[in-house]
Amino acid sequence: MSRGVFISFEGGEGCGKSTQSLLLKAALEKEGHRVLLTREPGGTWLGEQVRKLIKDQSDDVPCARAETLLFLAARAQLVEKVIAPALDEGVWVITDRFIDSTIAYQGYGRGLDIAQLHRANEFACSSLKPDVTLLLDVEPKEAVSRRISREQKQHSSADRIEREGELFHSRLREGFAALAAEEPERFRVIDANGAVEEVQEKIWTSLKHLV
Ligand code: TMP
Repeated sequence: MSRGVFISFEGGEGCGKSTQSLLLKAALEKEGHRVLLTREPGGTWLGEQVRKLIKDQSDDVPCARAETLLFLAARAQLVEKVIAPALDEGVWVITDRFIDSTIAYQGYGRGLDIAQLHRANEFACSSLKPDVTLLLDVEPKEAVSRRISREQKQHSSADRIEREGELFHSRLREGFAALAAEEPERFRVIDANGAVEEVQEKIWTSLKHLV
């Protein structure tokens, strides 16, 4: 039995990862693959607890290092308990965020040391990396309008990280772009400004050689 393929979705707020990861799962299943879709933080009991802590609206916010360690704990658990076993069984794994979010958000966004974060990521996931990372790139203006319309639809409000200012979000975009430039063989940068179907088509084209 051949090992499964490991795909991560990355990007800033409102880039459409969650919608596109669901669509990709359905498309791969149609091709006959077994597919597991997960997300970060999340995907395990521990990861979902971390998600609650991260999305918590209280004023007592974790400092940048504590925030980083929470994401890394969730990642370690997800890799060991879910992702690695699934790949070994030949299941394709799609994750909505992974290692690159830590470099973009905690490194470029919060200003923590990027080399240290790379090492911490390696420690958290025993050096496992996605085979393909789909970076959904959207103009900041488009991202904000998508987020607002999602909040209106779901009657939800932006969380602590989403509420960070424009500068933070432009640093994230710069960070993701730098990561993609460093590892062009792993990353597929997808222009995600268009309609859902257009973006879906671009993603499918970029993965066709694997399917
Ligand atoms: P989301 O994936 O639903 O957008 O929520 C996850 C939030 O956590 C999002 O604001 C990005 C942030 N995040 C980090 O800051 N670092 C990380 O390593 C991960 C996985 C997520």
